[in-house]
Amino acid sequence: MALTSGTGTLFTVGLGPGDPELMTLKAARIVGSAPVIAYFAKRGRAGHARSIVEGHLRAAVIEERMEYPFTTEVALEDPRYAAEIGTFYEACAARLAARLDAGQDVALLCEGDPFFYGSAMYLFDRLSGEYPSEVVPGVSGMSGCWTQARTPITHGDDVLTVLPGTLDEDALAARLTGCDAAVIMKVGRNLPKIRAALERAGVAGRAIYVERGTMPGERVVKLAELDSAPAPYFSIVLVPGRQRTR
Ligand SMILES: C[S@@+](CC[C@H](N)C(=O)[O-])C[C@H]1O[C@@H](n2cnc3c(N)ncnc32)[C@H](O)[C@@H]1O
Repeated sequence: MALTSGTGTLFTVGLGPGDPELMTLKAARIVGSAPVIAYFAKRGRAGHARSIVEGHLRAAVIEERMEYPFTTEVALEDPRYAAEIGTFYEACAARLAARLDAGQDVALLCEGDPFFYGSAMYLFDRLSGEYPSEVVPGVSGMSGCWTQARTPITHGDDVLTVLPGTLDEDALAARLTGCDAAVIMKVGRNLPKIRAALERAGVAGRAIYVERGTMPGERVVKLAELDSAPAPYFSIVLVPGRQRTR
């Protein structure tokens, strides 16, 4: 699979929203033939991307498991985050570079689509200029979620606004005010702030909450009916468009 003699190729592979059947044929082929797979995981967890490809791997595959330095979610504005995450990505890139230098192709796994808020981009950014590189797009998490919610997200000339839930409440409310359709990513512990912003923008009544879309343990519920239990990392809020009929 190597494109040039000597070095291996970095394949940055989107795996879809969680259901392994939503992986593309191309992703399954590359993951199934790669001598090395690389993936991020939280300490003590199997790794979500790794679990999607279970059953597709070569028997002798080498696994580069890259454990985040944080055991819990650290806020982006926390100084520890900036200090540690850059060092972590540098170390991960060095590990993969050693594989590529040895002529081994590496399949870097990513949930959803790699170029859509994917952490794999930080390694792609560091390595793609130096090594042969291919990227395989994936079905995004939000697409899997609105499908599972049986909710078309945009009709006609609706404009879709995609927001990270890590923004502050004022920024979220400003962007949501007057929106046609919206998707709020990275919900997790940001849920109370997101609820407040949706209320302020007057769109909370349309909002749908999806947890672990297309995965085991999936939950789809109107946001207004959601209890106040903490939301997991894989959760999203959808504000469907105006649902115009023609
Ligand atoms: C760092 S972003 C990665 C997005 C990914 N690259 C994609 O294309 O969907 C992670 C966020 O995506 C959302 N997400 C992705 N897949 C999801 C799923 N299956 N169910 C619910 N939320 C999901 C969550 O909001 C999660 O916090």
